[in-house]
Amino acid sequence: MANIQIKKVQLSQADTLLTYSKKTFYEFFAHLNEPANMEAYSSVAFTMQNMQSQLSNPDSEFYFAMLDNVIVGYMKLNFNDAQTEYKDKNALEVERIYVSGEYHGKQIGKQLLDFALNTARSKQFAYVWLGVWEHNEKALGFYKHQGFELCGSHDFMLGDDKQTDLLMKKEL
Ligand SMILES: CC(C)(COP(=O)(O)OP(=O)(O)OC[C@H]1O[C@@H](n2cnc3c(N)ncnc32)[C@H](O)[C@@H]1OP(=O)(O)O)[C@@H](O)C(=O)NCCC(=O)NCCS
Repeated sequence: MANIQIKKVQLSQADTLLTYSKKTFYEFFAHLNEPANMEAYSSVAFTMQNMQSQLSNPDSEFYFAMLDNVIVGYMKLNFNDAQTEYKDKNALEVERIYVSGEYHGKQIGKQLLDFALNTARSKQFAYVWLGVWEHNEKALGFYKHQGFELCGSHDFMLGDDKQTDLLMKKEL
């Protein structure tokens, strides 16, 4: 197990977050999708303006997972109206959780997810939920192992490819 530090991402770190989040998105999803769809999505999602806007939203929080001062993962949490579904004031959405491939299997994803669960518990929320691509077997297995259960689905547009995200929740 690698003991990470979990540090809230500051607005001044928007460029670092942009670089890392785009890099990991391509690392895990480029080989499974059409280049044009990856590019279409990235050109909107991974811009400095979009990063700064997300970091400035009081209902969204980003965290870096740090190991020996190296960024090895990140997570995005959404509260209230920033949630992409439900928008339940008593729920927390884990919109993104990524660990760099070379650090997989070292309990880093679990430490990030535990941080999210503890954040929700400290606010006495009823549940934590997330969306995960139906073909992302690894993440689906990880979330099931952490006690999440399927509770629905929603569409996710990657360029012109309409994909299905499975929704999962864990009651607290
Ligand atoms: C999903 C992800 C975050 C998991 O992170 P990780 O650091 O590799 O996972 P961990 O080492 O923390 O795993 C913790 C536990 O979950 C288990 N686990 C991990 N993946 C699993 C899987 N696919 N199926 C079953 N159990 C799994 C581990 O065996 C471990 O179990 P243990 O605590 O009983 O020993 C990581 O694989 C990742 O970043 N994937 C690419 C990005 C991605 O798809 N993110 C999700 C987008 S919604």
